[in-house]
Amino acid sequence: MIINPNERLIVSLDFDDINDALSLVDLLKEHVFFYKIGLQMYLKYGSKIISELKSRNVKIFLDLKLNDIPNTIYSSIKVLSYYSVDILNMHTLSGFKAMQEAKRAILEFTPQTKLVGVTVLTSLDDYELKRLGFSFNTIKEAEILSLLAKEAGLDGVISSAGEAFRIKELSEDNFITICPGIRRAEDSKDDQKRAFTPLSAIKSGADYIVVGRPITKAASPQEEVIKIIEEIRKGLEEKWKKKRYLLYFKT
Ligand code: C5P
Repeated sequence: MIINPNERLIVSLDFDDINDALSLVDLLKEHVFFYKIGLQMYLKYGSKIISELKSRNVKIFLDLKLNDIPNTIYSSIKVLSYYSVDILNMHTLSGFKAMQEAKRAILEFTPQTKLVGVTVLTSLDDYELKRLGFSFNTIKEAEILSLLAKEAGLDGVISSAGEAFRIKELSEDNFITICPGIRRAEDSKDDQKRAFTPLSAIKSGADYIVVGRPITKAASPQEEVIKIIEEIRKGLEEKWKKKRYLLYFKT
């Protein structure tokens, strides 16, 4: 179980320039220990950004959202194992066999890496999902994909905080839930259609929250991070209070 509220926060380094990313990491070194590298950084800097982060002793979530046929997924993870990152992800929509092959590659080449699946992007809502030809709403679709990911052996999923509660209910406690699309009540929603506050995300069962623009574009990223961590702390406190209360009435 992750006790320290700081460890629940993953900051998304979505920058064009590596110097901006590293300046932010250095600025936040007292508060943030986990960073997400997405396509924007990875396509431009590849191993450089990863080794720079490793030299700063922070954890890395490599968010490449792999989506391909089983054989390509397996071979890509084999190659990526070189980086030995803490978390790596793929699209659950690649299918069951692709998820199984991904897990096989993880176990063979980089067993310390947690493999998580993207369920429904937090930028999609029910209307968009329908236009894409899905017959279920976002919550049901995320539920179906999470159960499939679990069955295929993945360590967890990425979902909106709105689905985290149900996913936690359906899976076991050690099935990780990572929630992006996080905004404090005061923040702009940007393109996130299913945004939740850090407090509600943690209360719903998110193990980690991923936050990008509210921190990277803040006038004071440090102040924003401190406020987010305070909400995480409150969320954890309320969640544990509720757990203790339920346990008391069960016994
Ligand atoms: O700036 P913002 O806080 O919206 O950043 C969210 C980050 O999380 C982005 O890097 C985005 O690619 C990522 N993400 C997401 N929805 C998912 C999975 C990842 O927004 N389902």
